[in-house]
Amino acid sequence: MNWWETEFLAVKDNKLWIAGKDAAALAKRYGTPLYVYGKNRILERYAQLDDAFTRHSALPARICYAMKANSHRGILRLLQRRGAWIDAVSPCEVETALKAGFPAERILFTGTSVSRADLRTVFGIDGLTINIDAAEQLEIMSEVRRREFPSKSIRVSVRWNPGVGRGFDARVITAGKRSSDGTPIKFGVEAKKVIDVFSRARRLGFHPVGLHQHLGSGWVREDFGMVRAAVDRLVRKAREVEKAGFPLEFLDFGGGFGPRYLKNRAVFPVGDYIAYLSGAVARAGLAVKALAIEPGKFMVGDAGVLLLGVEYVKESYGNIFACVDGGTFNTVPRPAIYLQAHHEIVNASRIDGQARARITVAGNLCETGDIFGRERSMPLPVSGDVLAVLCAGAYCRSMASNFNLREIPREVLI
Ligand SMILES: Cc1ncc(COP(=O)(O)O)c(C=O)c1O
Repeated sequence: MNWWETEFLAVKDNKLWIAGKDAAALAKRYGTPLYVYGKNRILERYAQLDDAFTRHSALPARICYAMKANSHRGILRLLQRRGAWIDAVSPCEVETALKAGFPAERILFTGTSVSRADLRTVFGIDGLTINIDAAEQLEIMSEVRRREFPSKSIRVSVRWNPGVGRGFDARVITAGKRSSDGTPIKFGVEAKKVIDVFSRARRLGFHPVGLHQHLGSGWVREDFGMVRAAVDRLVRKAREVEKAGFPLEFLDFGGGFGPRYLKNRAVFPVGDYIAYLSGAVARAGLAVKALAIEPGKFMVGDAGVLLLGVEYVKESYGNIFACVDGGTFNTVPRPAIYLQAHHEIVNASRIDGQARARITVAGNLCETGDIFGRERSMPLPVSGDVLAVLCAGAYCRSMASNFNLREIPREVLI
C-alpha cells in the first residue's frame, strides 16, 4: 500500500481510484484540469475531531471550519449539516457561509486590517461574533457602532498573539514577534494589552465573550511540544481575563494541524492535542462554556486531488518534462507561494511501471517556477496519461488566480 492511500484514494489494477471512481474516467467525463473532492473523507475528518472532543472534554466543542481553505458551496453545506461552525476572515466569507446555511451565531469573523466598510457589513449581521485583532481597531469599531448601530449589542472576542508561533513555512507563522525569516507578525493583540482591550471593548459598549489564538499552519509531529506550551499560554491568559472580571463563553485554539503532504513527515497527533487542550482547560478550572478549534487544511487537504492531462513529454538538455494542461498558479499555487510546500504527484494511468524516470511536471504558464513537481521519480508518462496532484483540497482552489488569463478549473464533489 502506498503511504498516501486512504479511503478516498486507492490503487486498483495499477490505476488511481478516487472515492471509488476511476480517475481516468473522471478526467474523461469532466475534462482536465479538474479538482475532485471527496465528501466521505471530509466527514471522516470532522468525525475524528468531534469524537476526540466527546472522549476528552466535558465542554461542548465548536469545530469552526476555516473556510479560507476551500469555500466550495457543497463542502460548506456538508459541514453545516454536520454541525460545524465557521472561521471567516472577510465579510464575503461571512456572507458565503450564511448563504450555505450557517446561522450567524455559528460564525466567528476574524479580520485583519479591518476597514470601516467591513465593519458596517459585519455589524449589520445579528448574532455574529467579531474577533478583535488590535487595540487600535477598537477605535474604528467604536466610531462605526456609534454612528450606525448605536443601540446594538455586538459580540466580540479578542485574538491575542501569545508571543510564539508555529508553521511549516515562514509565511504561515501567525504568532510571535517575528516569523522565522524575520518578517514582523501583524496578527493579534500583544500579551500585555489583552486585559485593556477587554476593558475598553466593554466601556465602548461591546459585549466581550471569547479569547482566541492561531499560531500558524502545517504542523507536524515535532511541533507538538511547542504547540502544547502555547496551549498553556492561552489557558493562563484566559485565567487572567476571567480574574479581571470578564467571564469567557469560549476559548478558541485556532487551526494549524494538517494532513500528510510528505512521506517522511510524521503527522501531528490531533487526538492527543485535543486531549491536552481539554485537560489543560479543566485543570485550570476555567469557567468557559465551550472550546473551539479552527481546522482548515486538516478538514479538506487530503480530501482533494487535482487531475491533469499530459499533453506531451519533452526532453531538453537531459531534463524530462511532463507537459500538462494546467498551470500551478491557476490550480495548485502553494509551491509557487511557499518554498516549503510539497504535493505528491502520481501517474493515475499507471501507478507503477518499469520505465521510471525523473520527471519534472511542467505547467502551461509563462513562468519558470510553474512546476508542479521537480524531478520526481515516476513511471514515464505518455501523451494522454492523467496525473494526480495529491492533497489539493486546501488552499489550492481558494488561492488560485487567472494568471496568463487561464481559467480556474472545475470542481466536483463526489
Ligand atoms: C485565524 C485562522 N484560523 C484558522 C486557520 C486555519 O489554519 P489551517 O488550515 O492550518 O488549519 C487560519 C489559516 O490561515 C487562520 O488564519
